[in-house]
Parts: sequence; structure tokens; C-alpha cells
Amino acid sequence: MAGRTRKTPTMPEPKKLFIKTYGCQMNVYDSERMAEAMGAEGYVATDRADDADMVLLNTCHIREKASEKLFSDLGRLRPLKAANPDLKIGVAGCVAQAEGEEILRRMPLVDIVVGPQSYHRLPAMARAADRGEKLVDTDFPAEDKFDHLPDRPAATTRPAAFLTVQEGCDKFCAFCVVPYTRGSEVSRPANRILAEAQKLVEKGVREITLLGQNVNAYHGPDGWGLARLVRALAEIDGLARIRYTTSHPNDMEDDLIAAHGDLPQLMPYLHLPVQSGSDRILKAMNRRHSADQYLRLIERIRAARPDILMSGDFIVGFPGETDADFAATMDLVRTVGYGMAYSFKYSARPGTPAAERAPVEAAVADARLQELQALLTTQQRAAQEAMVGRELSVLYEKPGRMAGQMTGKSDYLHAVHVKDGAGKAGDIVRVRVVKSETNSLGGERV
Ligand code: 5AD
Ligand code: SF4
Repeated sequence: MAGRTRKTPTMPEPKKLFIKTYGCQMNVYDSERMAEAMGAEGYVATDRADDADMVLLNTCHIREKASEKLFSDLGRLRPLKAANPDLKIGVAGCVAQAEGEEILRRMPLVDIVVGPQSYHRLPAMARAADRGEKLVDTDFPAEDKFDHLPDRPAATTRPAAFLTVQEGCDKFCAFCVVPYTRGSEVSRPANRILAEAQKLVEKGVREITLLGQNVNAYHGPDGWGLARLVRALAEIDGLARIRYTTSHPNDMEDDLIAAHGDLPQLMPYLHLPVQSGSDRILKAMNRRHSADQYLRLIERIRAARPDILMSGDFIVGFPGETDADFAATMDLVRTVGYGMAYSFKYSARPGTPAAERAPVEAAVADARLQELQALLTTQQRAAQEAMVGRELSVLYEKPGRMAGQMTGKSDYLHAVHVKDGAGKAGDIVRVRVVKSETNSLGGERV
């Protein structure tokens, strides 16, 4: 039926911002904060690039594949820019930091290049871009971007939120670009973090994952370490769950391990990358610990929290890796028994020490990756199967794909689909796990 609709002539259409996020959770957090900063400028989010006034690609530089994806995606934006010359295209994140001006040279359709430490200036850059300027800002400015970002609005907060507490890395693993793209370690002051957490909780957040490239190296002013920060967060009324990622084995301080035993809010899931099980390769990677030290560390963590589910990262085909080195990695994986893990083929990154070394033959690295992934998949399945029949807590995040279904995460970070007609996002409910599927569990509310 043709109704009579009248448009208010005085209200200009808000500008629309489409953000695509590549890579890690820190980028997810940064994308949210950039969307909020642009929100204060009057931009609303859209999930369609072809509908947007500004497209922002928040990029990852960790492996060559991730990095090259930016350029193929930019190529795909050409017809959009041709159809709408007013469309502004921005590149943010680690590729922006690493490549800077080069991005404008290679891809003239880009208007803005903004690094991870300067995105509080994005609104001003967008205004300049609207005037026809092209801008690159990859400074590590003296001011703290977090002091120049708007408060977190309710509309963007979900029951499980990320909160960046630390950025950058001083570890210089021989393969890794992070110390170059994200710079040296900087920790945010604890009082600001606690205030941000408090505000998130007031807006309905029940779970916070503290983020940092090297989060357990967190060192706030006044001697705060991560354990003290986690303990202070646990005092916030209404904050039911705390997680943190990513950690380095050498920064697992005693009190943090103890916190896993005595803080019920600290969830029993720990991502603790080891990269390799071979001491020779660990040394070549500049990891500064042995496989045995890592195994003993895990024993101590499990002594504090026996049911903790371990997660990790592995690199196969690091320069110089022999069959025996790889066998040591497989042994370590068998010893630990991971509930979850990520494994990658080594990717030579320009500017890193390992990039100068002779690579392992690609076919050999491929075969090793397959073998490792098969083992890790078996372990992941076993960890999921072990949940079947158990009663777990699930934090509902959103409705599931089926009617009357909610989807959320268990304490152990498994995705769980639950038959529950009455549940809503933000509820934490007891669920009996009834089945294990490829990447999720199915459960019934008890
Ligand atoms: N090649 C392959 N994997 C890498 N990672 C970091 N740098 C590289 C690289 N050059 C992996 C590590 C790290 C994870 C985030 O990415 O396993 O823990
Ligand atoms: Fe990269 Fe992590 Fe090593 Fe830092 S500790 S250099 S972020 S792999």
C-alpha cells in the first residue's frame, strides 16, 4: 500500500562509514574506537562498502598474505571510487604504519593513511580529505591517543568487550614485525583502564578481554603489573569475566599464575604462544626460553588452575628448521595438549633478522604445517568432546541462526549454541553441553 511518507527537509543524511578489519583483536578494538571517533563527527556505521561515504581498511602486516590482501581489496574498490568520486578511502593499522607514503604511490585512490598510534586524528584527517587533501600520519605522537578519543558509547558495546591496556613489543622475536610497526612497549595507566572498564560495565558489558601485543608485560606507572590490574578489575561489580591476550611465556609473573587459582572471574583459557618446540629454533627465534622452561611453566599454571584450556601459536618452516626440530614441536604439542591453537607457515617479513636467512623449502614447510594442523585439530576436537555432558556457564552474545537459539561463549571460550527462547544478550546461564560440532558446542539451558 502506498503510504504518504514525508522526509524532513532540514535533516541532512548522516555520512556512512564502512570499516573492514584484518588481523588481530587489537585491530578489532582499534576499529571500534575509530568508528566511535568518527561517530562523534556524525558518521554512522554501514556494513556495505558500496553504500559508504568513507571506506576504512584497518590492516595487518604480520604475514605477507595478510599484507598483500590490502592491495587486492583496494583494487576492488576502484569501481566504487569511479562511480562516486566523493568516496574517501582510508588505510589504517600496521600496513599503514609500515608502508606509509608508499601506499599513496602504489594506490592513488587512497586518501588517508593513518597509523595505529595516530588514529585519534582521523576525524581531522577526514575533514581535510573532504577538502581534497591526501594525508599520511604515521607518527608516534607525544600525546596519548586514548586521551583524545570519545567516551565509549552504549550503542557499540557488546556483552563481551575488548580493552587495550598495552601496545607495542620490546621482545624482537626474529620473525616478527610488531616491534617495528607497533613500536616499543607502552602501558596505559591503570586508573584510565579501570575507568574505561567501569564505563563498559555500566553499559552492560559482562566480560572484558584485556589486550596487548605483549599483554602480560603490562607495566603501568606506579608499579602496576598485569596481576594487580586483573585483581583490581575483579573488584568491579557486574564484571563477571576477565581474559587477557596475547602473552609471552617469559612474562608470566607468579602473581598472575596465582590469580588463575584464586580469581573466579579470571577465565580458564590462556593463549600462551611458544612458536616452536625445538631449543635450537627457539634460540634462533630469539624467544629467550627453552621448550622445557615452557613446559614447566604450564605445569605451574595447571597446578593453579587444573582445568585451564591452553592455546598457542606455532610457526613451521622457520629458517634452519630441520626434521628433528619439527619433530620436537610435534612432541611439545603432544605433551601440552592444546584446546585451541593457531599455526602458520613462516613468512619472511622485510626488515626482520630472520628475513636475511635461507628459507626452508616451501613444499617441506607446507607438509609440516599440514601435519601440525592435523594434530592440533585432533586435540581441539578432543577438548570439545570432553565438554559434552558437562554443565558450563555461557555468556550470551547474540541470537543464534535458528529461531529460539542464543549463541555465546563458555568459560573455556568455546562458541556454544543454546536452545533458549527466553535468553537475551548479556545473560550468563548454566548450560548442559549435548554435542560437539566442528567449531562449536551445542547445549541446553538447565
Ligand atoms: N611468519 C609466520 N607467522 C608469524 N607470526 C608472527 N610473525 C610471523 C611470521 N613472520 C605468528 C606468530 C605470532 C602470531 C600472532 O603470528 O605465531 O604469535
Ligand atoms: Fe612479535 Fe609477540 Fe615476539 Fe613481540 S613477543 S616480537 S609481538 S611474536
